[in-house]
Amino acid sequence: MTEAARSTVDLFAPDVAAEPYPHYRELRDAGPVVYLEKLDTYALTRYEDVRSALRDWETFTSSEGTAFNPAMNQNVRGVILTAEPPEHGALRSALLERLRLTSVRELTAWFHEQADEMVAPLVERGGFDVVSELARQFPTKLLGELIGFSPELTEKFVIGSNAVFAAMGPMNDKTERALGIIGDVLATIAGMTAADFAPGSMGESLYLAAERGEIPHEHVGKLLWNYAGPAFDTTIQAISNLVWALARDPEQLALLRKEPDLVPGAVEEGLRYEPPIQIWGRFCRKDVSFGDVLLPAGSRVAIVLGAANRDERHYRDPDRFDVQRNARDSLAFGYGMHRCTGASLARLQIEAVLRALAGRVRGIELGESKRQLNHTVRGFETLWVRTT
Ligand code: HEM
Repeated sequence: MTEAARSTVDLFAPDVAAEPYPHYRELRDAGPVVYLEKLDTYALTRYEDVRSALRDWETFTSSEGTAFNPAMNQNVRGVILTAEPPEHGALRSALLERLRLTSVRELTAWFHEQADEMVAPLVERGGFDVVSELARQFPTKLLGELIGFSPELTEKFVIGSNAVFAAMGPMNDKTERALGIIGDVLATIAGMTAADFAPGSMGESLYLAAERGEIPHEHVGKLLWNYAGPAFDTTIQAISNLVWALARDPEQLALLRKEPDLVPGAVEEGLRYEPPIQIWGRFCRKDVSFGDVLLPAGSRVAIVLGAANRDERHYRDPDRFDVQRNARDSLAFGYGMHRCTGASLARLQIEAVLRALAGRVRGIELGESKRQLNHTVRGFETLWVRTT
């Protein structure tokens, strides 16, 4: 058994996070397990290794937190992300009642209508900021309405969702600010009742069930946060990243315009190519070997989804965005027990936006943009485009 290679790269440093893919390649090539000195963490970056670690939830536990700082690891105790059986199964079934494909499929027509309504005037204008005028607007409006939030509450949860991911990084000013925002959202949740939600909404029905004594009251807040916390920023940036990738490659956009049946595959490829969640944490409970390299018990582990999705050992020409690729097996939604419960809902939303856009534009030109540096979610703060 050999020791892991060592690296001084800091995956959370702004310059690395802005352009992480060359660093990911270096780490993949350095070995199956690489010790990141600056983070005191072992990184898994190859597709097969990441998948096998995610499959083995007992060895690579989330119960010690999925963040890279103790305060957030404490904060996520009791939520589905860090739960283990049997509690995990109970929370997951409760969430999946609302989120499995058969439950969300009925939303398809409404999503498409809303996407058309949102995209048409933007394309008519010929230029817009993808993030603030489309990618953020769409899930904010739809998920906000589904849950039954007022516009003010939706805004609070959208900001809270961004903070959840920022707070997963190492302890620094950004993480501390994010923890403050999360505290504020949790205090709001603690005071919520059925009256805070629109009549007939999902949120109201959850809280009414608690008022009737069918669900313990403290579970309702937890379920709401489990649903809304991971839902917004991920979907927002999946949409932004996909528009960016298409704008950079006019041939791929032309393919979609010619063959709209390629749209679902393009959504998968967008998620593979630029997965919103790039890095996620686990804790390794016992010695494990990858090849002949040891990952020692008691270590923090960085599961680098962004690197696994670009692994040339698994995908041919991985740095190429190719809407005809079958990328359905990408790790953008995770894998195994904690795999994303919101995947169907997210896919439907991204697909609705992409169909609306591809049906209306011949070309998308990139204007000014600014990267979102969130510690976890890769995307943009602003992304200006001109459409023809
Ligand atoms: C493109 C959008 C999305 C991406 C890329 C994404 C990604 C992920 C990933 C990578 C995980 C696995 C975490 C782990 O292994 O510890 C996860 C878990 C989760 N996601 Fe998503 N997600 C997205 C959208 C959503 C939406 C819309 C919802 C809810 C409506 C949601 C709810 C959840 C929940 C509750 C979990 C925890 C599942 C568990 O621990 O069993 N996600 N997501």
